Amino acid sequence: MTLLITGAAGTIGTRLAADLAAHGVPLRLLDQQLPVGGPPAGAEFVQADLRDLEAVERATTGTSAVVHLAGITQEGPFTEMVEHNITGTHHVLEAARRGRVPRVVLASSHHVTGLNPVGAPTALLAPDSFYAVTKVTAEALGYLYAHKTTMQVVAVRIGSYRSHPDEPRHWATWLSPRDATALLYTAATSPLTSPFLAVYGTSSNSESWWPRTGWDALGYQPADSAEQHAEPGPLADRFMGGAFADDELPTS
Ligand SMILES: NC(=O)c1ccc[n+]([C@@H]2O[C@H](COP(=O)([O-])OP(=O)(O)OC[C@H]3O[C@@H](n4cnc5c(N)ncnc54)[C@H](O)[C@@H]3O)[C@@H](O)[C@H]2O)c1
Repeated sequence: MTLLITGAAGTIGTRLAADLAAHGVPLRLLDQQLPVGGPPAGAEFVQADLRDLEAVERATTGTSAVVHLAGITQEGPFTEMVEHNITGTHHVLEAARRGRVPRVVLASSHHVTGLNPVGAPTALLAPDSFYAVTKVTAEALGYLYAHKTTMQVVAVRIGSYRSHPDEPRHWATWLSPRDATALLYTAATSPLTSPFLAVYGTSSNSESWWPRTGWDALGYQPADSAEQHAEPGPLADRFMGGAFADDELPTS
């Protein structure tokens, strides 16, 4: 019943690993860099690069689920994005297939629909950056593996993961750390009837731009809501993706 977390030295992975270790969940943690302060007590740590398929396969062996968080999380040159985020995700899914891991959770992003104008009635697929294009592709890879192998895949379109909402758009997009842990853990462990599910990952914010489809299927019940914090001011963003949607494309 060991859970593999990739990107375990990152912001979300560090907190997720600490929360789950505190609840006695057996963990194997993978990252290309060592976690600051070391892994939580009892967790196994594997230093590896996702671009190395054999290393990912070794790390995946014997696990019951993978929560795949690793990747480049800021906009950058396209080729680098492809290597870490698309090839890296392919390696995670391929390793899970070879190891017969029944569940993979992919950290997608709300930026896959980031070029929708704020106020649009539905959020169509509209990636706002090279980064978002890699997440669209990661979701597509997840869909493919879920339908052509025996694994189930849940793609979580993470909103804005912060300790508290600190921009006006976070009123709609905020995901608190404890809700992120709850969502990613239920995505990894809840029984599901469908091979593939894509859900948005936010707290229970009353201002909401995205459907909550899939939350019931996972049993996700957020504990936090942006309204518990001081309102961060009037919204000036034109697009749901905020600055990602406004920025120039990098040259590459
Ligand atoms: N933080 C947010 O608000 C947010 C929002 C939407 C989506 N996400 C997604 O959630 C995931 C985690 O986000 P985060 O904020 O913790 O990111 P982060 O940048 O803090 O951590 C990412 C981790 O991935 C590791 N990594 C990168 N490339 C790797 C590789 N090739 N092999 C092994 N390790 C590699 C890095 O060393 C780092 O520790 C990411 O996939 C991100 O795109 C985050």
